[in-house]
Amino acid sequence: MHIDVLTLFPRMLDGFLTESILGKGIEAGRLTVKVHDLRGWTTDKHRTADDRPFGGGAGMVMKPEPVFAAMEQLQSPGCRRIYLTPDGVPLSPALAEGLSRQSHLILLSGHYEGIDQRIRDHIIDMEISIGDYVLTNGSLAAAVLIDALARFIPGVLGEEKSLTHESFNSKLLDFPQYTRPAEFRGMSIPEVLLSGNHDEIEKWRHARQVEKTRQVRPDLLK
Ligand code: ADE
Repeated sequence: MHIDVLTLFPRMLDGFLTESILGKGIEAGRLTVKVHDLRGWTTDKHRTADDRPFGGGAGMVMKPEPVFAAMEQLQSPGCRRIYLTPDGVPLSPALAEGLSRQSHLILLSGHYEGIDQRIRDHIIDMEISIGDYVLTNGSLAAAVLIDALARFIPGVLGEEKSLTHESFNSKLLDFPQYTRPAEFRGMSIPEVLLSGNHDEIEKWRHARQVEKTRQVRPDLLK
């Protein structure tokens, strides 16, 4: 899969793309991500990417020309053009998994008070929100979306198996994990984990998942 990201703050994504599990998937070539500075498609000497809103009001609005020009240059047949915005459809595991099967995504991160509506009406296929809060910068939302879908691309997450256990694939939150030492500052780990009895361990883990989900996210059990 290839992902293009269009942003006014390209450097915000540098560390995210080179570190961690995601960086390995990128190294392995299963996922390629290219971050583009939208100002590269401005044509005036001040590289103006935003302007005051028609009809008045506070703040600045992202201009259509650089975004249309960038999209027209980068898009490919069948690609999905996505705008990250708090008033988009909520990101879910199912949505992330569906997007992970696409071959080309273009992510547009908005800034300031918004973007010209003609962009949304004419060159965006889908609008996605990562949660009910407003970030100052859509680049972080693009990073969250990339991270969430990259884990569904085979070979990006090191061990395939770890996905199947995880929260939200099963609609249950995770069970607690422990590692060596078994005794640390007087704190010991649950006996069952040392038993070597895999059926008992599975049962214990499932019970902890149900307990945790009931406490923290009862809505997932309905
Ligand atoms: N841009 C600003 N806030 C956002 C959010 N919650 N989701 C997606 N994009 C955003």
